[in-house]
Amino acid sequence: MSQNIELEKFDKMEEAPNSEPDRQYYFIAKAKKLTEELEKQLQRKPTYCVTTFGCQMNARDSEKLTGILELAGYEAAEEETADFVIYNTCTVRDNANQRVYGRLGNLNSMKKKNPHKKIALCGCMMQEPSVIEKIQKSYSFVDLIFGTHNIYKFPELLVTMLTQEDMIIDIWKDTDRIVEDLPVERKYAFKSGINIMFGCNNFCSYCIVPYVRGRERSRNPKDIVREIEGLVSEGVVEIMLLGQNVNSYGKNLEEPMTFAELLREIEKIEGLKRIRFMTSHPKDLSDELIQVMKESKKICRHLHLPLQSGSTKILKAMNRVYTKESYLELADKLRKEIPDLSITTDIIVGFPGETREDVDETIDVVRKVQYDNAFTFIYSKRTGTPAAAMENQVSEEEVKENFDRLLKVVQETARERVKLLEGQAAEALVEEINEQDGTFVTGRLSNNTLVHFKGEASLIGKLVPVRLKECKGFYYLGEMI
Ligand code: 5AD
Ligand code: SF4
Repeated sequence: MSQNIELEKFDKMEEAPNSEPDRQYYFIAKAKKLTEELEKQLQRKPTYCVTTFGCQMNARDSEKLTGILELAGYEAAEEETADFVIYNTCTVRDNANQRVYGRLGNLNSMKKKNPHKKIALCGCMMQEPSVIEKIQKSYSFVDLIFGTHNIYKFPELLVTMLTQEDMIIDIWKDTDRIVEDLPVERKYAFKSGINIMFGCNNFCSYCIVPYVRGRERSRNPKDIVREIEGLVSEGVVEIMLLGQNVNSYGKNLEEPMTFAELLREIEKIEGLKRIRFMTSHPKDLSDELIQVMKESKKICRHLHLPLQSGSTKILKAMNRVYTKESYLELADKLRKEIPDLSITTDIIVGFPGETREDVDETIDVVRKVQYDNAFTFIYSKRTGTPAAAMENQVSEEEVKENFDRLLKVVQETARERVKLLEGQAAEALVEEINEQDGTFVTGRLSNNTLVHFKGEASLIGKLVPVRLKECKGFYYLGEMI
């Protein structure tokens, strides 16, 4: 999947060009020279391991880091014993941060045994000044730290890291820049995420994302379509359009365009079979989008529509800009217009001031909407967000009790929803060999539910008809027909 990019041209340049992405290709060529030297010393290719925490945006960013490392002459390794380890971090909830700190200790022991080992940290967590302070103080063995806004500069930073000993820290507060056409190494040959926008302007009161990912910026539609056409020519059949709030796509473009209009353009791409997108904010979900989804042959029958809370009082405090009633109306409209749509959601339990009655409202919405799946999170206090300063934080016991009550209902309704298709035929995109049983493969339905059935590796990347024989809660056991 590695792209055939000629580095020779850049290798011959005496000075780094100022324009992007050429400047970064120049540094990739430089890094390649350095890894070749390292290879001679080691008598083998130097290896890398990129570990991703968090969401699909981070997963996509990791593919970009991987693309650069491959081109620079590193070889992929599964294990963190690799010569170069990168943690692409998440900070949306505190437990993600704690996991990073926990694992860094292990890396330090490995580094003591391998003098060539380098460690880099990037991603959302690095945009927090308190994190940088802590790493400088307690994890001084880290070699390179960069943030979310300058990830495109990774080749340049890599060369600096390989040519000096000190810890390198390069964090930008924000950017309005989008650099196109850097190398990417995809995890899957047949499906891919595509960034259509970066950042978020919503400032939900609990959420740190707008502070660490910056203001909303949309990519040019021509660049998006060109990227997808390129992917399709390489064999990609399913794409996932990525943005914190895809429904506000295009508002800040020179020639504004709606997300629905973008979808219409993407639908025209020949050879592309499936289109997914995430995430949709309920406040901006337009009738135009519902119509485009309804008429489309390619847009999958799945919508991720975060609820966060079913209590209008809590929604107001969260700055979500919709009410319980308006959310239910929207869900109703979606169900009427697109009956086979599966709806999934995110819910937070334990937001400051949330009572048992508020959680009852959330449970009521779960029962009414009948989600196919819901990701439930315990509220995590994020320093710097408005909610962190709210007084009436909920006790751990109350949160736990409410969380368990909610989860029970989520599981019941999801099972009921998934059971509806039991016995029916559907089309699945085969993604991988089943982890538990090597004689099975795992496929994904248009509505995002997984189905496991007998099959072999040659099916991977193919769309195949299956019978959904048995509902197993959140997934099916099936057979190919
Ligand atoms: N605490 C708990 N969950 C959070 N999310 C975002 N911020 C927080 C927080 N501070 C959840 C939201 C969002 C998902 C990606 O993460 O539900 O939709
Ligand atoms: Fe966070 Fe809200 Fe933006 Fe989603 S829409 S990233 S929850 S601020």
